[in-house]
Parts: sequence; structure tokens; C-alpha cells
Amino acid sequence: KNILFAASECVPFIKTGGLADVAGSLPKYFNKKKFDVRVVLPKYSCMIPKWEDKMENVDHFYMDIADQNQYVGILKCVHENVTFYFIDNEYYFSGAAPYDGDPRWNIEKFAFFSKAVLSILPVIGFRPDLIHCHDWQTGLIPVYIDNFRYLGEYYRGIKTIMTIHNLKFQGVWDTKTVRQITELPEYYFVPDKMEAYKDANLLKGGIVYADKVTTVSQTYAEEIKTPFYGEGLDGLMRARSNDLCGIINGLDYEEYSPFSDTRISKKFTTDTFRRNKPANKLALQDELGLEKNSRTMLIGMVSRLTDQKGFDLIDYVMDELCQDAVQMVVLGTGETRYENMLRHFAWKYAGKVSANIFYSEDLSHRIYASCDAFLMPSLFEPCGLSQLISLRYGTVPIVRETGGLKDTVKPYNEFAKTGTGFSFANYNAHEMLNTIRYAERIYYDKKRDWNKIVERAISQDFSWKNSARQYQELYRNLIEE
Ligand code: ADP
Ligand code: GLC
Repeated sequence: KNILFAASECVPFIKTGGLADVAGSLPKYFNKKKFDVRVVLPKYSCMIPKWEDKMENVDHFYMDIADQNQYVGILKCVHENVTFYFIDNEYYFSGAAPYDGDPRWNIEKFAFFSKAVLSILPVIGFRPDLIHCHDWQTGLIPVYIDNFRYLGEYYRGIKTIMTIHNLKFQGVWDTKTVRQITELPEYYFVPDKMEAYKDANLLKGGIVYADKVTTVSQTYAEEIKTPFYGEGLDGLMRARSNDLCGIINGLDYEEYSPFSDTRISKKFTTDTFRRNKPANKLALQDELGLEKNSRTMLIGMVSRLTDQKGFDLIDYVMDELCQDAVQMVVLGTGETRYENMLRHFAWKYAGKVSANIFYSEDLSHRIYASCDAFLMPSLFEPCGLSQLISLRYGTVPIVRETGGLKDTVKPYNEFAKTGTGFSFANYNAHEMLNTIRYAERIYYDKKRDWNKIVERAISQDFSWKNSARQYQELYRNLIEE
């Protein structure tokens, strides 16, 4: 069976968040005898040039979109046995980042992408039985397929899955403009189709027209049926609940492995972490100008700096937290107010707090490998990969019980001696602080118990094995329908 992944970002080519990790690693883990899974993404100018050198030209043609006739170039690259196609068009994809520019521009950019994904299929000679769409940027694909009469018979019967990685981003703009951009008939722009709250909504189109809708954890699949997490589409999620399921993301265990990671100073296993994690910590403290002491509890964060990730809670109690015997290292970029907040605390608590306001794969690996705990107090979290990476590196997650965080971090129980991390329920700064302080007590006063938590964390299995099997099952059921 032929499966095509369509996504706006994908490792190792381009990444702004976890979506790229999923789109780039999941395709490797399907049964190759049964599924030919290929991936299509835009060819951005901001990709690392080394990848451009590895792409071969396939073909090009012109396609109508937004009242223009646009160039569609097709490039191809086989990486780790997976075939990737890239859609080339400098008008749309030459920005400094994948989602640069205003919302209207992004709508047009990804409307072009979605239509181009379908248009290249006869040219590349790969007719998918199913297209697996990811997030709003690909929401128009199921809608265009529904409109196959306009596109051509070739597209009739191609199944679609819409995976929601983040319901907050929906691709919304006024109906008239979106009609003009997409050249879709008026028929689609009504409240039970692509329209929501008087505007056109690309993700909604995808959710309405996909054969199945999935999201990246079971808890988030439930949460988005409620107004608090539903981002205005909870009614639709309830209406589609028979076709909605949650499949937890896996982690690329080849990329993230403390036993073989070449970016960290000392590799380690469940047998050697007691010695080697503190050694990594000393190296990181030295690198970042933190007070060098391998015994001090080091708390890490690697994150987009947005309100999703709970930085308001941190702002609120940072002064209190910094009275404790802890150090904190943050790596992230995003909203200016959070970038400045973190720079401020790094200045105020020099030697104790390190703020690294940039993007770096290398530093992220060193943080995951060196810290004692990892803080992720998200307001909402569809899945979250950072806590999975932390578990893998024996860095004990401290999380809010929401979405994928709730499904993957088992709270420590000091009586039963179980659990892989610490968690709190309410989005409340002092609840977070109390939980961090509870973790501090275990870390400093009950080191043996702490080390057992670390051991259990490293021993968890969040590889793609189980989740890839669930996707295969879903594909099989749909294709054989
Ligand atoms: P989201 O997709 O919502 O950003 P996830 O936890 O699913 O959250 O995935 C985030 C991914 O991006 C992780 O692999 C994390 O390590 C990485 N990441 C986030 N910010 C940075 C950064 N500044 N430098 C390096 N990696 C980062
Ligand atoms: C989104 C979510 C994150 C999830 C990632 C990959 O960016 O915010 O929770 O892990 O997608 O599915």
C-alpha cells in the first residue's frame, strides 16, 4: 500500500517543533513490505544548504493558485531508506523561516503547498492509497480530494487522515479571500464545512473531510472535546468523536540515546548514569558559566517560548524558586516577553540561572543529558516530545498533568516506590513550585529513591514500535474499507 505524508516541516531538513520530529521519524518505522511510506514537504530556502546538494531534480510544471500561474518544482532525496519529495517555489518558500510573514500570506503559501501535493502525484508516478496530513498547513488536502470532480478522476477514492499536532493553530482568514486563493466553490464555505465563526478555517476543512482524525495522545483526544482545550472547535471534535483517536508519539531512539549520543561529553546507561550524569553536569555548568558543583540540582527547559509552555507560571515564582539550592538552564526562542523575562532572571541570578535564547540541537542534547530534572508546566500539551527525551536521558520530568504529559509521565509515589517523574494538576504557579520543592526534597534527602526514579525513567519504552503499529492498523482498516 502507498502512503504519503504531507507536512510543513520534517527532520532532518527543517524543524521548528515536535511536528518535524514526528514527520521525519515515524515513516522509518513502518513495515516496509506492506507499506511504501513517502513524505512530501516544501523546499524552503532556509533549509541547511547541505540538504539541497543531496536533492535531485524530478520535474516541474505550472499550476493555478490565487489567480496566478505558479511554478511547481519537484525535488527528491532518499534519506535513511525513506523517499522525500520537496515542492520548490521561490515565491512562496524563500522566507527566513517556514512560517514567516503575516497570517494571510501563510494561508496562501500552504494552500499552494496543499494543492501542489496533489498535483505532483501523476508526475512522480506515486498514487497514494492514503494521504496522511499533519496540522492546518495540510488541511486543504482532504477538501481538494472531496472536490475531485474538479481535480480529476485520478483523485477519487484516495483516503485521508488528519493528524492534529496542535489545535491552537488553525489557519484562519476571511472567507472571501480564502475562496479566491483556493479557487474552491462556494459550497465549501458554510458552517458545517470549512467555515467557523464567519471565517474560513483550513484545519476545520481537514477535520470535516478527512476519513479519520487523530491526535498525538489519548488524553488530548479527550481534552479537545471540551471548551477549555477545544479552541472553538470542541463541538466539531465531539461530532467527529467516532472517527477521532489519540496515538501517542514515539521518539526516534536512534537520534536520542544516552548510550550512543556523540554530542554529549559522557555517554551513559542505567549502570553508569550515577557517575556520568554529574560529569556531564559539570561540563555544562562550565560551558554556561553556572557555579560548578555536581551536587547542585540542575533543572532544564528546552522549549518554544510561548504561553502554551507555562512560562507565565515560571515568571510568577522564579524569585521564590531561586532562593532554593537549585540551578536552572533554559534553551528556547519565541515571544519577546518570555525571551526578556528569561534574560532578566539570568542577569539577576547570574551563576544560578542560564538563559540561552537561540536554537541549537547540540546544546539541547547536552541539556537533556546533564540536568537532574526537566520542567514542563504546559497549559496544554498535545503530546510533548521533550519529556520523552528527558525520560530517555534519565532527567526526571516535572510536568503539569495535561495531554501527552499526563499519558507519559507516571507521578512518583514514595510509598509504593513507583513513578518516573513529578506532576501537578492545576495551572497554578504555587502548585508548580510545591511540586518542584517536593522533587528537591527527594533529590537531596533521599538520593537512593531519586536514583531509582532515574533508573525507571531510562527504562521506559517510548520508541515508535507500538505507535507505528497503531498507525498501520488504522491505515489497513481505512484502505480495506
Ligand atoms: P512543540 O512541538 O510544541 O514545540 P515538543 O515537546 O513536541 O513541543 O517538541 C519540541 C522539540 O523541539 C523537541 O525536540 C525540543 O528538544 C526541540 N526544541 C525546542 N526548542 C528548541 C531550541 N531552542 N533548540 C533546540 N531544540 C529545541
Ligand atoms: C505540537 C505539540 C506537541 C507535540 C508535537 C508533535 O507541536 O505542541 O505537544 O509533541 O506537535 O506531535
